[in-house]
Amino acid sequence: RGSEVYNQQCAACHQAQGQGIPGSFPPQKNHTAQMYNATDGIGGRRYLGHVLQYGLTGPIKVDGTSYNGNMPAWGGALTNQQMADVLNYVLTAFGNEKRVAGEFQPYTPEEIEAIAGKDLSGKDVYQLRQTLLGQ
Ligand code: HEM
Repeated sequence: RGSEVYNQQCAACHQAQGQGIPGSFPPQKNHTAQMYNATDGIGGRRYLGHVLQYGLTGPIKVDGTSYNGNMPAWGGALTNQQMADVLNYVLTAFGNEKRVAGEFQPYTPEEIEAIAGKDLSGKDVYQLRQTLLGQ
């Protein structure tokens, strides 16, 4: 299920194998697990839920390559189930399955729902990302 959401909604930018487009769209491959594992601020697990709900805007660096794009918000456009499914897919594919710390507990729609309704902007989520990485 998560793979269908990924292929329909994410692959256009992040590409079919999660490799992204250097300089334009950051990879999911070998990278999303790194964000998931981060423990500062709100923690990587919740951060990824926020990215899906509210999007992300601001200059970032992934594996030494810079990006300064706009990740769309999916809250309202995808169901909580679909957002949970796609995160579960990305974190168990594209090399992330070997990099997630500990035993991966799938996201549930309830967990995504708990992140909803805070009316954050992509810039707010960018601040969370800075805190998460200790920047
Ligand atoms: C960033 C996932 C769809 C463009 C991200 C990040 C995640 C993600 C987890 C954060 C990476 C990080 O913090 O290092 C997804 C998923 C999608 C999706 C699961 C499908 C539901 C899209 C689409 C686009 C896009 C359709 C293009 C229209 C971007 C860009 C960034 C980003 C440009 C970096 C934003 C910045 O530079 O601040 N995506 N994405 N994403 N995504 Fe997506």
